[in-house]
Amino acid sequence: MKRDFLSVRDFTKEEILEAFELAKDMKLDRFKYSESLKGQTLALIFEKPSLRTRTSFDVGIQQLGGFSLYLSPNEISLGKRESVYDVAKNLERMVQGIMIRTFGHDIVEDMAKYASIPIINGLTDYSHPCQAMADFMTISEIKGKFEGLKLCYCGDGNNVAHSLMFAGARLGVNVTIACPQGYEPNPVALQLAREDARATGAKIEVEYDPFHAVKDADVVYTDVWASMGQEAETEKRKQIFIPYQVNQKLMDNAKSDAIFMHCLPAHRGDEVTGDVIDSPYSVVFQEAENRLHAQKAVMYKLMKK
Ligand code: CP
Ligand code: NVA
Repeated sequence: MKRDFLSVRDFTKEEILEAFELAKDMKLDRFKYSESLKGQTLALIFEKPSLRTRTSFDVGIQQLGGFSLYLSPNEISLGKRESVYDVAKNLERMVQGIMIRTFGHDIVEDMAKYASIPIINGLTDYSHPCQAMADFMTISEIKGKFEGLKLCYCGDGNNVAHSLMFAGARLGVNVTIACPQGYEPNPVALQLAREDARATGAKIEVEYDPFHAVKDADVVYTDVWASMGQEAETEKRKQIFIPYQVNQKLMDNAKSDAIFMHCLPAHRGDEVTGDVIDSPYSVVFQEAENRLHAQKAVMYKLMKK
């Protein structure tokens, strides 16, 4: 049976931990798995811009012996020029896997339903599972454990926040989302994360006071206030989110050995100040690098024959 990776929830705790071990081994030697996906092609469908996702999947599939095919926002126009069903039925005849970055999460779910080949979610409005895999791999490299840790995410209850909740729930990391009223995580995502968290005892919480929320945090995380597709709300959101900016004063309320994380791209002076993101406790470029290794492990698990 083919497998997809649409959500962190598609992997069990054991599968996530196995993927991290594999990713860490891949990180030690980029040539070691160079025959694993020999001759396989991964289509990369982008309906939004990208630096990290595009580069890491493109380089990653090549390091595993395969090829990538970049399909830009102008090329397919999913659901407009051609139905998701027809795109799935065409591509499955020519490529061995598809990564999609799009708007509606229903599009990746439909693609997974119709296509006989693995589908990987490269970001939807609902979630960003590959980001969370790289983030938790980074946390494990630095902290050496998951159980008992606290991650505080300050900002919009968005796609990145949802995937961090799902990963924390699976791995036993307490996740607190600090956000303005009206910008909470999706209630269904929150409920699913809390259900998953019963197995590990992780606490998944939402708070409105960022200074209280970061108390005892091992990891302080933020993301842009206006996500791709929300550009028209940028100015309005700046007013609403400014109390949630991650600055040194906020970091001083976290644990003394807390690290700072951000999925990038970042806007210095908005969601994070320059002194925080460029500090020695900021691990944003390690996170970015780990996109490559974590996604190689995901592709290996899904596509290896
Ligand atoms: N973090 C992330 O997904 O970056 P890109 O939007 O550049 O792919
Ligand atoms: N929440 C952001 C993440 C970018 C990687 C967005 O969707 O634009």
